[in-house]
Amino acid sequence: MVLERHSREYVETRVRAGVLEQGTVDILRDSGVGERLEREGLQHQGVELRFGGQGHRIDFQDLVGKSITVYAQQEVVKDLIAARLGYEAPIYFEAEAMQIQEYDAQPRIQYQFDGTSHEIACDFIAGCDGFHGICRPAIPAGQLQIHERHYPFAWLGILAHVPPASHELTYTYHERGFALLSMRSLEVSRLYLQCAPDENIENWPDDRIWQELRTRMATQEGFVLRDGPIFQKGITPMRSFVTSPMQFGKLFLLGDAAHIVPPTGAKGLNLAVADVRVLTRGLVEFYKTGSLEPLRQYTERCLRRVWKCQRFSWWMTSMLHRFPNEDSFSHNIHLAELDYVTRSRAASTTLAENYVGLPFDTPGLF
Ligand code: PHB
Repeated sequence: MVLERHSREYVETRVRAGVLEQGTVDILRDSGVGERLEREGLQHQGVELRFGGQGHRIDFQDLVGKSITVYAQQEVVKDLIAARLGYEAPIYFEAEAMQIQEYDAQPRIQYQFDGTSHEIACDFIAGCDGFHGICRPAIPAGQLQIHERHYPFAWLGILAHVPPASHELTYTYHERGFALLSMRSLEVSRLYLQCAPDENIENWPDDRIWQELRTRMATQEGFVLRDGPIFQKGITPMRSFVTSPMQFGKLFLLGDAAHIVPPTGAKGLNLAVADVRVLTRGLVEFYKTGSLEPLRQYTERCLRRVWKCQRFSWWMTSMLHRFPNEDSFSHNIHLAELDYVTRSRAASTTLAENYVGLPFDTPGLF
């Protein structure tokens, strides 16, 4: 049974992430929800890193033989909801989980639906309720270790009705700060600018945003960034956060309920899917054989991969952003690192291998 706090319309239209690792695409396809994704998803064989007024392509296909797919998270959500309703499994929209009553012998969740209070008893709870949900706080504080890092900047993000200026994602390091050109489709661009963490969006009229994007993304070859109507604007804070353990009794934490990555590198959604995969395998094993062993290993199996993705997201963030009070020394270190990453095949391969997604199953390694 799925309890969803928001309406179906809200979750199907809320703009979130957009980059799927190949492993994520494979899971969706193997789960029978890959048909529209295969038709409408945009396959990208690489990304561009831009600095010093020049672009440098990291060719994923050439380096690691894999690609990524641009397909908006809300489209994945639509496909999952349609599939679930298709086989008549329940989803309760606008049903708010209020409290977890018990997480050991027989877990129970109290929730509000249709103006009244209800309770469900279940075998297991999958806490997929995000960073602000009730599942993580339901674990006694003394049982949880939190590892986190806040960054002294944020992203100002826009969605605009204009074809993307480049056919692949472009990550830019500039003295004035980071900028990213991404997309949601061949008609919709998604663009980001590094800004102050307490930036007021009111100070950013559309013209100023386009102007700043053009300044940061300019190249010696005369890169042209066309503008178009901006239909959404927002500020995204940047944070790294990991909870350990990711389970307590029969309560399991998945995705943002357990960990947050800064968006540089587009790992958030993919990490959540990886957690789902580990939990699902454990549940299948339990219902087939009665063994709880794979479920007992949930935290260990998830965290081994989570920390590698944390490291990658932290590294991409550090390499591509300006920190407060950076001097010419740190500026040159950024440039040297980017020059190295784009010129050394070993370093490019490291970036590519992480960006397309680390393998799910390499015992002992990931
Ligand atoms: C996005 O399209 O929203 C996006 C793409 C790549 C990132 C982060 C966000 O690294």
